[in-house]
Amino acid sequence: MGRVFSGVQPTGNLHLGNYLGAIKNFVSLQNDHECIYCVVDMHAITVKQDPKILKNNILEVAAAFVASGINPDKSVIFVQSQVSAHAELAWIFNCVARLGWLNRMTQFKEKAGKNRENASAGLYTYPVLMAADILAYHATHVPVGDDQRQHLELARDIAQKFNNDFQVEYFPVTEPVIMGNATRVMSLRDGKNKMSKSDMSDYSRLNLTDSADDISNKIRKAKTDPLPLPDLSCLDNEDRFNEDIIINRPEAVNLLNIYSALSNENTKTVVSKFSEKQFSFFKNELNQLSVETLSPITREMRKLLDDRSFLEEILNKGRDKANSIAEPILKEAKEIVGFY
Ligand code: TRP
Repeated sequence: MGRVFSGVQPTGNLHLGNYLGAIKNFVSLQNDHECIYCVVDMHAITVKQDPKILKNNILEVAAAFVASGINPDKSVIFVQSQVSAHAELAWIFNCVARLGWLNRMTQFKEKAGKNRENASAGLYTYPVLMAADILAYHATHVPVGDDQRQHLELARDIAQKFNNDFQVEYFPVTEPVIMGNATRVMSLRDGKNKMSKSDMSDYSRLNLTDSADDISNKIRKAKTDPLPLPDLSCLDNEDRFNEDIIINRPEAVNLLNIYSALSNENTKTVVSKFSEKQFSFFKNELNQLSVETLSPITREMRKLLDDRSFLEEILNKGRDKANSIAEPILKEAKEIVGFY
């Protein structure tokens, strides 16, 4: 069965991409797995954060977890910085990982940009901390978006090198779990770019804190193209969108993917449902579905954030549970390394 671990950064503007690409999958995994879900604040500070805002964002992610249906009695929900095993194991792994491995990480290159000399050392070893997150719990399954694939491979390399260096079978080799139709939700303004918290235009994303009116406005204004919706010939023989339509009609593909993920219907069902219909009709349906799905989550998040005592209780319990799993694993790792 295995143990599931995943993390979400508290960097603000939680949006539909975070929900469909991550949190929604976290909810379904808890039925047949032991799940540990972490608000990764230590990862967040690899780039500059305003301390007051960070604190609120941490609670907001925790609230989104609970409001989306992660059951705190079943799954562990906690804040990374409250469990010291993450930092301690990350140091050991910093001494296992090779510079050459980290130099290949494409996300570092993207995030550091042109001024690499000025990036924090933490941003550089970010994927090492991520490996520590996972391996501190001996997690075997890690649900992530496609953009985290390379980091997971690094976690596997670190586990293997640790085992090999010390001649032990200690850390498991983890599997990525990449799920769902819309693990890559694209911007509502440009179907070629990922939906992102840092996009200048708020119209590019549906935030988990948006009101029903906000959602409707954003869907109404979402970019489309002049053609009616595609018919089934846009799918390949595995019922996935073919290259041609992805390149030429990325906005249509994105909106259909979002519909499919929200409705839990497969791509083929959704494409045939709206085949050759006008966008105006489809957008009405998509709007209704989005409001129906997201409004209860938004409402529940507000409630949790207005009275924080319940949320704080969940996080305290989660911290203790996480500690009780990670502490013995860290202890043994320290012994393997030869710490006194
Ligand atoms: N890097 C991940 C992201 O940005 C977040 C993350 C941190 C994570 N630690 C993790 C994901 C461990 C899975 C497992 O999406």
